[in-house]
Amino acid sequence: MTPQERSLLNVATTAAKAGGEVLMTYFRQGVSIRCKNGESADLVSEADVNAEQAVIRVIHATFPEHAILGEESATDTDPNSPALWVIDPLDGTTNFLHDVPHFAVSIGYFEFGQAVCGVVWNPARGDMYTAVTGHGAQYNDRPIHVSPIDRLDQSLIGTGFHVIRDAKLGATLGAIEELFGLNIHCVRRCGSAALDLCHVASGLYGAYFEYQLSAWDFAAGMLIVQEAGGQVTNGRGTPLLLERSSILASNTVLHLQMLEIVGRHHARF
Ligand code: IPD
Ligand code: CA
Ligand code: CA
Repeated sequence: MTPQERSLLNVATTAAKAGGEVLMTYFRQGVSIRCKNGESADLVSEADVNAEQAVIRVIHATFPEHAILGEESATDTDPNSPALWVIDPLDGTTNFLHDVPHFAVSIGYFEFGQAVCGVVWNPARGDMYTAVTGHGAQYNDRPIHVSPIDRLDQSLIGTGFHVIRDAKLGATLGAIEELFGLNIHCVRRCGSAALDLCHVASGLYGAYFEYQLSAWDFAAGMLIVQEAGGQVTNGRGTPLLLERSSILASNTVLHLQMLEIVGRHHARF
C-alpha cells in the first residue's frame, strides 16, 4: 500500500469510529425520530445528523479540500469530484431506532468516480470491514473472501426493501418467491445495505440484491465485495455508478443466475 493509501484508510477508519461513538451515545436511549421526505418509513434521528458531522470533522482535519457526499448534509455533490468521500453515518436507521444492534457507519473514498478505499463499521459489535483498491478486503484486519459456492440451492441470499413501497416491493417479493422456488437455503433481510454487502464479501451470503439504494448505501460495501473477489452491478447487469440505483452483488459465480431473476423482475418498474 502506498503512504497515501495508508493515510486514506487510516482517516476512513478513524472517521467511522468517531461516527460510531456518536451513534452509541444515542443507541437504546430513546432518540427522537422524524420522518424524512414525507415518507412514514423513512426515519432519521439526531444521531444520524450528529454522527455525520463527526465523520466529516475527522476527514476535513486531514483533507480539508476534499468533497463530501453525505446522506444527511450534502446529497448533490458531483460524484466525479477529484477527491470525494461518500458517507452514510447510520446505515440501518430502522434497526437503530428499534434497538437492534445491526447498523453501521459506511464511508467510501473515490477519485473521479473510481473507488479507492471503503470502510464499514458496526460500533455495536465492534465489526470493521475495510478495503483498498488492489489490496483485498478485511474483516477486523483479517482477509475475507466471497463464498466459492456456485449453486443457488446451497446459498443464503440477502435482500432489502426500499422505504417507498411501490412496484419495487412487488418486484422484490417476486424475485424472492422465485428464489425459494429454486430451493435456496433462505433469504435474509437484516436492514443495513452496507453490512449486507460485507456479508457477501465475507462469504455469508452467496448474493444480495435490492431494487433501490443511494450511493452512500453501497459506496464502501461495493469495493469491499469486489476486493473480496465478488462482482457488483446494478440489477440490470450494467456497471454501478455513484447514483440512486438497484444493486446485485454476488460471489461472482452466482452472478448470472441471480441476474436472470433480479433483472426479469426489474423490468416490472
Ligand atoms: C437503508 C438500509 C436498508 C435498505 C434501505 C436503505 P438507512 O439505509 O440500508 O437496509 O434496505 O434501502 O435506505 O435509511 O438505514 O440509511
Ligand atoms: Ca443507508
Ligand atoms: Ca442512513
